Amino acid sequence: MADPQQRRSAGDAKAGETSSVSVTGLSKSYGGAGSLRALDDFTLEFGAGQCTVLLGPSGCGKTTVLRSIAGLITPDSGRIAIGGTAVFDAAFGTCDPPEKRRLGMVFQSYALWPHLSVADNVGYPLAASGMPKAEIRPLVESMLEWVSLGGMGGRYVHELSGGQQQRVSLARAVVGNPRAILFDEPLSNLDARLRERMRLELLGLRQRRPFTSIYVTHDQLEAMTLGDRVVVMRAGKIEQVGSPEDVYKRPRTRFAADFMGIPNLIEGRLRATGPDGFVVDTVLGPLRARGWRTGRTVGESCTVALRPTLLACSPDIGAGAPLGRVIRSVFQGTSTIHMIDVAGTTITIESFSEERHGDGMTVRVTPAEGAVFALLDD
Ligand SMILES: Nc1ncnc2c1ncn2[C@@H]1O[C@H](COP(=O)(O)OP(=O)(O)OP(=O)(O)O)[C@@H](O)[C@H]1O
Ligand SMILES: [Mg+2]
Repeated sequence: MADPQQRRSAGDAKAGETSSVSVTGLSKSYGGAGSLRALDDFTLEFGAGQCTVLLGPSGCGKTTVLRSIAGLITPDSGRIAIGGTAVFDAAFGTCDPPEKRRLGMVFQSYALWPHLSVADNVGYPLAASGMPKAEIRPLVESMLEWVSLGGMGGRYVHELSGGQQQRVSLARAVVGNPRAILFDEPLSNLDARLRERMRLELLGLRQRRPFTSIYVTHDQLEAMTLGDRVVVMRAGKIEQVGSPEDVYKRPRTRFAADFMGIPNLIEGRLRATGPDGFVVDTVLGPLRARGWRTGRTVGESCTVALRPTLLACSPDIGAGAPLGRVIRSVFQGTSTIHMIDVAGTTITIESFSEERHGDGMTVRVTPAEGAVFALLDD
């Protein structure tokens, strides 16, 4: 498929460079002194061409980060630079208006104009900046091709499906050659199948032409698929930053593990520490765990994360592993989920076999190498 950016004139090339975004010490409170801090000394570098995902619960400040970068709200303190140049600096009173920052935005609600055609919606930012119609047309056409909506420019927005509308808003965000694109839960209004398809399409679009993206979501699957880096946020601060794999395999806290979709977070007691990790007493018996240097001493309590795909449960034959009782065993297409009650604690196991266990059956639960990870205290 044609890369729309390649059709631009050479003079445009520099303006179209995707840029890093650097945020330092950003704080924002709503409603005066002593009120809740929506952002609390938030510092992060968003790499050029990378997709950074902000993940966290409702109210943790994700949209506040995006709106601050876009220039739609003014933080109380801190600095924001795009491509190395400050667009906001509280200390110097710098605050560029949104249009000078040259960023694209894609929202949860597509925010398209119902009375304009698809092509006019996509070309709107260019028309608003005074570009002549004859120059807008080819740019819009190539954008529509890029998002696989070639030939649909004449339609009205209500004549498109939800996924197609979301692609129109993506094309509109990109057409102005932004230095970065800010996504605020762009897929959360779509049904599960469309959401999955759009997630893969977005990934494909980025692979064809990398652009700096800052992507907000609640959804750990979206975070894992789209993110080069995942930032888990909590109450206006960063809880953990890393590659999706790193945050999933090495969550620092119960909060981060929970947000990465790890269901088994169980309490134990530290039995021993050594150079290769820990031994933690749990309802599953003493478990070898890797993990963060906890600073805890033997005998203290300790939370461990158990990865469901690295646990096995088998009918009660032989001895050794602790016994559990099957609460439910559900086949879900690619895998089978077993919920097992072990001494009052529910353990979730995901197995890639179709074998189901009957409700109430007694099984033994055994962790494979690497299943157990000790977390820091929250
Ligand atoms: N205009 C406002 N006036 C007062 N408080 C606000 C305003 N906007 C946001 N807040 C508060 O700031 C905090 C962070 O809000 P923000 O919208 O950034 O959260 P979020 O992480 O995007 O949440 P969600 O996932 O629900 O969209 C919340 O406690 C919210 O209530
Ligand atoms: Mg939000």
